Amino acid sequence: MKTEGALLWNPGTNSGWSVEEIELDPPKEREILIKLAASGICHSDDHVDTGDIPLDWAPIIGGHEGAGVVEEVGPGVTSLEPGDHVVLSFMPSCGHCRMCVLGKANMCELGAGVLSGFAPDGTKRIHARGQGVGAFSYLGTFSPYVVVPLDAAVKIDKEIPLDKAALIGCGVPTGWGSSVYAADMQLGDTVVVIGVGGVGMNAVQGAVLKGAKNIVAVDPVAFKREKAVEFGATHTASDFAEATSIVEELTNGQMAERVIFTVGVAHGELLNPAQVLTRRGGVLVLTSAAPVLQSSVDFDLFSFAMSGKRLQGSLYGTTNAQVDIPYIADLYHRGHMKLDELVTKTYDLHDINQAFQDMREGKNIRGVIMYD
Ligand SMILES: NC(=O)c1ccc[n+]([C@@H]2O[C@H](COP(=O)([O-])OP(=O)(O)OC[C@H]3O[C@@H](n4cnc5c(N)ncnc54)[C@H](O)[C@@H]3O)[C@@H](O)[C@H]2O)c1
Ligand SMILES: [Zn+2]
Ligand SMILES: [Zn+2]
Repeated sequence: MKTEGALLWNPGTNSGWSVEEIELDPPKEREILIKLAASGICHSDDHVDTGDIPLDWAPIIGGHEGAGVVEEVGPGVTSLEPGDHVVLSFMPSCGHCRMCVLGKANMCELGAGVLSGFAPDGTKRIHARGQGVGAFSYLGTFSPYVVVPLDAAVKIDKEIPLDKAALIGCGVPTGWGSSVYAADMQLGDTVVVIGVGGVGMNAVQGAVLKGAKNIVAVDPVAFKREKAVEFGATHTASDFAEATSIVEELTNGQMAERVIFTVGVAHGELLNPAQVLTRRGGVLVLTSAAPVLQSSVDFDLFSFAMSGKRLQGSLYGTTNAQVDIPYIADLYHRGHMKLDELVTKTYDLHDINQAFQDMREGKNIRGVIMYD
């Protein structure tokens, strides 16, 4: 079918997204065609445009945070049918590889190919200007229609509004899970969330759910700090120096049990100040993407070792998509999780470059592309 999509033809050059006609093939074996309701604008797509995540192939269709209605299923699909509502998971989980079986679905072996430019079967589903187009995370939600692997679709209750559910494809579980799972948070912890955008705001929500005593949100943007309080932060700071003095005072100098690092770009000089905020024996969770080619980081290794701290990476918040996406949707349905408040502004697909500009300028918690 013919539809349209937002593509990068020259990734890494800050040249922005080209919205143009694309040709979408029908779903193959164990794939589904989805009519999307909305796609979130996550910072990770921007890393491909800036070159922080360098790609040696093009074109790419962006977008990996979407939800919609199943329109057609390919051969071998029995667990979903047309009309089902699904959230797309940016990490697929096959359910039978070693990592999936061990309960580490965010590490599913299929995930290794999410930035390969090919569908899991090694072919391409999308074509533009006579060329094959690779999709971000096997998805490419910057298009009103997508053909995706069955393993990337998670069925949700039809009562959940799809434009809000879209955010449960990436930013919400990534931030929430960074607190709930990756940080190993305990009741009464003092927690610092560094960078309260689309991901970090959900780390705040996760900390609330886990019963943190103090939640300190750090962000240079005043509007984000104000929002963080609405989401449950107990204190805010505009930079590391202010955060350090607040946390010192709150903890009698012991510092925070959990620090969640969710700034837009993990530049190496930001890591040590985050470590300073972490108490002895505490956990520093690194969720942000760093420039892939960055090879040095400022880090006081002596203090780190001698104070028994843990640096914990967090892919997809260490969540298990097939379990946690419906769980988060249910928390929202019962009023225990804010999704509506995450959406600052909605956009037409044709205004996608404005949406990224607004993200870079710190205007949005989340910008969302709306489809018909
Ligand atoms: N690990 C994963 O699985 C995963 C998944 C999704 C996104 N990410 C990454 O998480 C990061 C955050 O994504 P997002 O969509 O929330 O981005 P965002 O742009 O919405 O939010 C980033 C926030 O960091 C703030 N910030 C920037 N510099 C700061 C600093 N020095 N100190 C404190 N705050 C600072 C910004 O003002 C902004 O509010 C990105 O690097 C993204 O690629 C990782
Ligand atoms: Zn994302
Ligand atoms: Zn798997």
